[in-house]
Amino acid sequence: MLIDTHAHYDDSRFDNDRDELLQSLKSKGIAYVVNASSNVSSNAMSISLSRKFDFIFASVGIHPHDSSDFNDEVLDMLRSLSSNEKVVAIGEIGLDYYYDNVPREIQKSCFAKQIRLARQLDLPIIIHDRDAHEDTLKIIRDEHASEVGGVMHAYSGSVEMARELLKLNFYFGIGGVCTFKNAKKVVEVIKYLPMERIVLETDCPYLTPEPFRGRRNDSGYLVYIAEKIAQIKNMDVEEVAHITSQNAIRLFNLPV
Ligand code: NI
Repeated sequence: MLIDTHAHYDDSRFDNDRDELLQSLKSKGIAYVVNASSNVSSNAMSISLSRKFDFIFASVGIHPHDSSDFNDEVLDMLRSLSSNEKVVAIGEIGLDYYYDNVPREIQKSCFAKQIRLARQLDLPIIIHDRDAHEDTLKIIRDEHASEVGGVMHAYSGSVEMARELLKLNFYFGIGGVCTFKNAKKVVEVIKYLPMERIVLETDCPYLTPEPFRGRRNDSGYLVYIAEKIAQIKNMDVEEVAHITSQNAIRLFNLPV
């Protein structure tokens, strides 16, 4: 049994075969999927997928790329969506200084306001941090995000930053990148992290693991990530699957 803690099945790349693919996931050993939202329309789609499929849960939030659309009305919408019992987190939220699509001050304020919402609702957060490690850590601290904790999605920071984030009650989402040939940094981080703080994720349709890099990703490929972690940690893949699933259940309060 594996849990995909970060997927985007609302993406248009699944339009032709979404239902068929999702129906096949249980037979591929996938127990649960958390569908991470990014903009107003994907929030609605995540909720409707979670209503349609018992094993799909939703996180609601506005991605840094879409933070220019964030306002009080959107905040109210997120609050009302999160009353749905299948909503398990606020995300994905954070900062993206790699693409820098939106002025940084706007990204920061959108991120901070959604952390406050998560604290009001007592929901964990799913953080997107690309090339914005310092400001991400600062906002996590300033907004007391450790009260709710959460997961660093597609963690790309250093071992030193991981040490700080462990103290701040965060988990680490490990995905396809750890299988790539140039994955030295994330491999070092995986070696360092306690197994109790690692969760698996695909970020599908993106970041397909080797040996399928370049194809469209889906939760069926999660096992390749589990295998890579097992290799790095010198453990059985079954043990990796078990521990990471227990972690995801604890983090998102999923049914046992
Ligand atoms: Ni994502």
